[in-house]
Amino acid sequence: MLNPILEIIYLIASVTFIIGLKMMGNPKTARNGNLIGAAGMTLAIFGTIFLYKDLSQVTMLVLGLIFAGIAIGTIIGWMTAKKVQMTKMPELVSLFNGMGGACAALIGLIEFHHNTGNGFGPMLFILVGLIIGSVSFSGSIIAFLKLNGTMNKAIRLPSYNMINNLILLLTLGFGGYMLMNPLAIHGGVYILFAISLAYGVFFTIPIGGADMPVVISLLNSFTGLAAATGGFLYANQAMQTGGILVGSAGTLLTLVMCKAMNRPLSNVIFGAFGGSNEAVVERDGVTGSIKDISVSDLAVLMNYSKKVVIVPGYGLAVAQAQHVIHELENILEERGVSVKYAIHPVAGRMPGHMNVLLAEANVSYDKLVEMEEINGEFATTDVVLVVGANDVVNPAAKNDPASPIYGMPILEVENASHIVVNKRSMNAGYAGIENELFYNPKTSMLFGDAKTVLTKLVAELKTM
Ligand code: TAP
Repeated sequence: MLNPILEIIYLIASVTFIIGLKMMGNPKTARNGNLIGAAGMTLAIFGTIFLYKDLSQVTMLVLGLIFAGIAIGTIIGWMTAKKVQMTKMPELVSLFNGMGGACAALIGLIEFHHNTGNGFGPMLFILVGLIIGSVSFSGSIIAFLKLNGTMNKAIRLPSYNMINNLILLLTLGFGGYMLMNPLAIHGGVYILFAISLAYGVFFTIPIGGADMPVVISLLNSFTGLAAATGGFLYANQAMQTGGILVGSAGTLLTLVMCKAMNRPLSNVIFGAFGGSNEAVVERDGVTGSIKDISVSDLAVLMNYSKKVVIVPGYGLAVAQAQHVIHELENILEERGVSVKYAIHPVAGRMPGHMNVLLAEANVSYDKLVEMEEINGEFATTDVVLVVGANDVVNPAAKNDPASPIYGMPILEVENASHIVVNKRSMNAGYAGIENELFYNPKTSMLFGDAKTVLTKLVAELKTM
C-alpha cells in the first residue's frame, strides 16, 4: 500500500505534467508550462525519496548516494542546457533522451534479480522496459554522435534492413524466452541488454544525419514507454503518466514531422533520402538564368514597399542572423512597411526551430505566421525575402511528381511581386535537389552569409 500522501503527490505531479504540456503549445505560456511540469517532477522525486519507504529502513549511505546523484545530475544538466546554442539543441535533446533510456534499462537490470519469483506481470514490465530503454539509449547516443559530426556518414551495410529485422526478431524472441524462463540462462538478462543495445545502434546508423530530428523524436517516444513500464512496476502513477505523455507526445511529433515533410516514417527509417551531407544536386529539367541583386538595390526596393514577408530557414540559424533580421524588421516597420515572417513547419532542422530562434531575438509572436495562413497573403506581398531557406520554398514540391519532395506543402513565395533569395551559393538544401525558384524571372539572388549581408542591408537602409 502506498502512503496516501504520496498518492496525492503523484496525482498533483501528473496534473502539472498535463497542464505544463498544454501550456507548451503556445510560445507565450511555454516557459511557465515548463516550470510547472518541472515543479511537479521535483515534488514527485522528493515525495518518493521521503514517503515511498519508511525512512528508518533507508541507510544514510543510500540517502547520501541519492542526493549526490541528484546534485551531480542537476549541475551537469543545468550547465549544459545554459550554454547550448540553439542549433545544437537536437544534440542535447538526444543526449538527455539517451539518459532517460539508460535509466529505464538500469531499472530493468536491477529489478530483474528482485523479481524472478514474482510471476509474469512484473517480469513483463521489467523486460519490456529493459529492451525499449536500451534501444533508446544506444540509438540516442548514435544520433548524438551523428548530429555533432563525429559520425558524419550514414553507414549502410549490405541488406541492412534484413540484418536489422533479424536483430529485432532475435531481441524479441530472446526477451520472450526470458519472460517464460527467467532463470534458465545464467546472465541471460545481460545478454538481452547487450542485444537490445546492438539493435539500437544498428537501427540508427543507416539513417542520414539530417533525418535525425525525426529519429530522436521516435526514440523519445520509446524512452517514454520504457519509463511508463517502470511506473507500472512500482505502481508509481507519476511515472506512468509522465512516461505515457512522453511516449504519446514523441509519437505525435514524429508523425507531425513526417507529415510536414510528406514522407512516411518507413521512408525516414528505411529510405536513403537526406543520407548524405554532400549536396547531390539534381539538375533535371531546371534551366534558365539567375540574376542577382545588390544590397543597395534591395534596400531601395524594401524601403518603398508596403508589405514584406521574410522566410527564415536553416541558413538563418547557421548564420545566427536572428538578431539582425529583427533589426531589419524594426527599421522597415518604422518606415511604415508591414513585415511578417512566414513559418514553415519543418524550416530548419528541428520542430519549432524558427519560432524559438526568432523568439531568442525578441521578435513578437504575432509577427510569425504559419504556412497555411501566409500562403494566401503572398499575392499581396511586394517583397519576399527568403533567408537561408531552400526546400521549404521549392515549387518542385507542387510541380514535379518525380521530385523527392513532391507533395510536401511549401510556402508559395512565387506569388509575390518580387522574390529575393539570400544564400551563399547555388548549392542545394537538405533534400539535395535543385530549386527552380532561383530561375524564376521574379527572383533575384542575394549571395553571401546571411548575417554579413543583412548587416550591410540594415546599414544601407539607415542611410536612406
Ligand atoms: P534547407 O533546404 O536545408 O536550405 C538551407 C539553405 O541555407 C541552404 O540551401 C544553404 O545554401 C543556406 N545557408 C546555409 N548557411 C547559410 C548562411 N550562413 N547564410 C545564408 N544561407 C545559408 O533549409 P530549409 O528551407 O529550412 O528546409 C529545411 C529542410 O530540413 C527540409 O527539407 C526539411 O524537410 C528538413 N528537415 C527539417 C526538420 C524539422 S523538424 N525542421 C527535421 C528533419 C528534416 P548555401 O549553402 O548556398 O548557403
